[in-house]
Amino acid sequence: MIEHRHLGVVGVLGFSHKRGTRAEIGYALDRRYWNRGYATEAVRGALRWVKRDWRRNVVVAGHFVDNPASGQVLCKAGFLYTGDVELRPSSARGGEAVATRMMVWLA
Ligand SMILES: CC(C)(COP(=O)(O)OP(=O)(O)OC[C@H]1O[C@@H](n2cnc3c(N)ncnc32)[C@H](O)[C@@H]1OP(=O)(O)O)[C@@H](O)C(=O)NCCC(=O)NCCS
Repeated sequence: MIEHRHLGVVGVLGFSHKRGTRAEIGYALDRRYWNRGYATEAVRGALRWVKRDWRRNVVVAGHFVDNPASGQVLCKAGFLYTGDVELRPSSARGGEAVATRMMVWLA
């Protein structure tokens, strides 16, 4: 959970890490709280934990091509574009496959 001191829970963030694959970060913020820097702060905090406590040094992420704000969040947190574009299901669009720009972060 991404919890704000005064507002309570404003979003969620987590990692998927299936055996043999890179850890992948994902997150979503309640629309009421977009563009206040909360996602960027949450991702940066999570990456500090990844490096210091989880002791991983590579994290991947992807953002839908039509969500440039998410790409900006990942760029600000230090991710770089790999150049790969994958088709990923969007639950908000009934599972429709949506082009997703892949990114990577190195500790
Ligand atoms: C992505 C998401 C988490 C953004 O959260 P947020 O708290 O609003 O993000 P921040 O405020 O930290 O940063 C947003 C940045 O995007 C920029 N931005 C906003 N709208 C934009 C647009 N249409 N085009 C380009 N940049 C945009 C903002 O200016 C800001 O950058 P800046 O600080 O350099 O000005 C939110 O859009 C979301 O929950 N999306 C659905 C789920 C998702 O896409 N998850 C990510 C993939 S796992």
